[in-house]
Amino acid sequence: MPENAIESILQEKRLFNPSPEFAENAHIKSLDQYNELYEKAKADPQAFWADLAEKELHWFKKWDQVLDWQPPFAKWFVGGKLNISYNCLDRHLTTWRRNKAAIIWEGEPGDSRTLTYGELHREVCQFANAMKQLGVKKGDRVGIYMPMIPEAAIAMLACARIGAPHSVVFGGFSSEALKDRLEDAQAKLVITADGGFRKDKAIHLKSAVDLALEHGAPTVEKVIVVERIKEPITMKEGRDYWWHDLKKTASADCPAEEMDSEDTLFILYTSGSTGKPKGVVHTTGGYNLYTHMTTKWVFDLKDTDVYWCTADVGWITGHSYIVYGPLSNGATSLMYEGAPRPSNPGCFWDVVEKYGVNIFYTAPTAIRAFIKAGDELPNARDLSSLRLLGTVGEPINPEAWMWYHRVIGKERCPIVDTWWQTETGGIMITALPGAIPTKPGSATRPFPGIIADVVNEEGHRVPDNAGGYLVIKHPWPSMLRTVYGNPERFRKTYWDPIAPIDGEQVYFAGDSVRRDEDGYFWIMGRVDDVMNVAGHRLGSMELESALKSHPAVAEAGVVGTPHEITGEQIFAFVILKNTATPSDELAQELKQHVVMEIGAIARPGEIQFTEALPKTRSGKIVRRFLRQIAAGQEIVGDKTTVEDPTVLDKLEAEIAHKR
Ligand code: PRX
Repeated sequence: MPENAIESILQEKRLFNPSPEFAENAHIKSLDQYNELYEKAKADPQAFWADLAEKELHWFKKWDQVLDWQPPFAKWFVGGKLNISYNCLDRHLTTWRRNKAAIIWEGEPGDSRTLTYGELHREVCQFANAMKQLGVKKGDRVGIYMPMIPEAAIAMLACARIGAPHSVVFGGFSSEALKDRLEDAQAKLVITADGGFRKDKAIHLKSAVDLALEHGAPTVEKVIVVERIKEPITMKEGRDYWWHDLKKTASADCPAEEMDSEDTLFILYTSGSTGKPKGVVHTTGGYNLYTHMTTKWVFDLKDTDVYWCTADVGWITGHSYIVYGPLSNGATSLMYEGAPRPSNPGCFWDVVEKYGVNIFYTAPTAIRAFIKAGDELPNARDLSSLRLLGTVGEPINPEAWMWYHRVIGKERCPIVDTWWQTETGGIMITALPGAIPTKPGSATRPFPGIIADVVNEEGHRVPDNAGGYLVIKHPWPSMLRTVYGNPERFRKTYWDPIAPIDGEQVYFAGDSVRRDEDGYFWIMGRVDDVMNVAGHRLGSMELESALKSHPAVAEAGVVGTPHEITGEQIFAFVILKNTATPSDELAQELKQHVVMEIGAIARPGEIQFTEALPKTRSGKIVRRFLRQIAAGQEIVGDKTTVEDPTVLDKLEAEIAHKR
């Protein structure tokens, strides 16, 4: 986030109260009601969650124990049996919702499809049976590499139905990144499509799967392919199957497997500051409950709402707030295949008008792009159906918040700025729109049941308005359970960085935060070597190893620099081997190389060739200095931590010269 945005957040004093009409009709109607719920949950979290689990979800068998907490390992609703696909589908079929739209889908070329709960249930059952026919069993991992088409949600729900943990890989990741993730998860099956449409282009997915399987991922036995773009692809006999062929013989009778509350529901890979992306593990019962409750209260969901979250199912936001949370509530969830694009930068507003969207949830980077595209686009559409707006993924600067409030919300719609992470599974800090007055740029208060604090490394609470580390004190139902195959990394990354508080380990979020005198949280950004580019999370080391895999590169140091639209952009310092010479062509080639290694979201904005990088005596790159240099700022901090401080002066001069 740009420095000036941080400055303005610090000075932000405006307060927006929910309108009396909104509050009156909301699930949580007042600050008093929120405070009461919050205190009740804090006093006895187990009773609070158990009560909601009983009321809001269907259980085949009730749990024996609400929480088993052996820090840092938590188990929720121990002994309970349920199936999230049952909660998202079957239980609605015996109500009037059977013929209610579950998914309204709009394709980028303008094609569309609506699936009622009854139809979605049928599709999911057929898909589940098709997977079974191909030998997929409970516990087998399934990779999903799909465009934003209904089959992506169908595939996820079908996996959940038979108890096969899914691992969705964002369609924008390269074959190399896909291969790494399939290997780590030891996936048995991959579900993909011939391709999808995004930003006026056809994206080819099946060819990327072919390449990934050619280079590795030996555990993958079968591939199911959905036809979308209808361009020729290669189908390997005995390995690859068209979904439309399997469907012809797949029965629609597939009772949901009785899953243990703690059975793995999915693995989702996300970037950290070190090493390869981590497989974040989420389980069934706690995740189902938490995403259900947050969807209901944060989005103040009503049965008549058309709800639209613009994320991709490849990210946690898509998992929790396109698929599981909304469908568990019996909502109508809108799914859009594309993104604002040159041929139609106002496409989101077309969709809002076409379907009368009531709740709209997007990312600050998109809002900043809308601002740039001009008010004419939203002003030319009827947005009067909107009643609630949301944002997620990165800090929102107050200017963007105010624009969203004024131009999209017509000063009528509350805005929920929701802070959370892949690891948290669901929204953690957020306004409840009928209850909590909002301040532009603040995610406001913790959701009931979430005990958040701002501390220093020793675990001591810092005074109001002083920045510190964001920690969560008590396990919550949708908390990640471990890092797939690496419990040590789980402990080290999230539980070791902060000293125990009152003898109890706390969850370290990796974000810096300030809490103001009203108890509002202002997220400032990551404190580790994780970048947030257009709301996408990328690790410095992962980008550095992508660069280092190019034959011309000897060393690389990668940091984020502030960017007007994407929040941050990738800035790479590169030392070439003595066999290579710096040139613009080589810089372009290296950018393309990173795209091939990771995906288009990881394309560096700038590459700076240099001769040396600032390193500690033990050889670690000091990225904090690189960050300042790349942003053209004066270097602050103790330069003597760098083995050869003259490197810093040299780099500074090189950048100054370039500008
Ligand atoms: O730095 C925070 C930022 O996004 C990180 C989590 O990224 P990811 O796991 O990809 O999940 C994104 C969607 C949930 C956080 O550590 N972040 C997310 N939401 C906000 C945010 N920063 C500020 N305000 C937010 N509302």
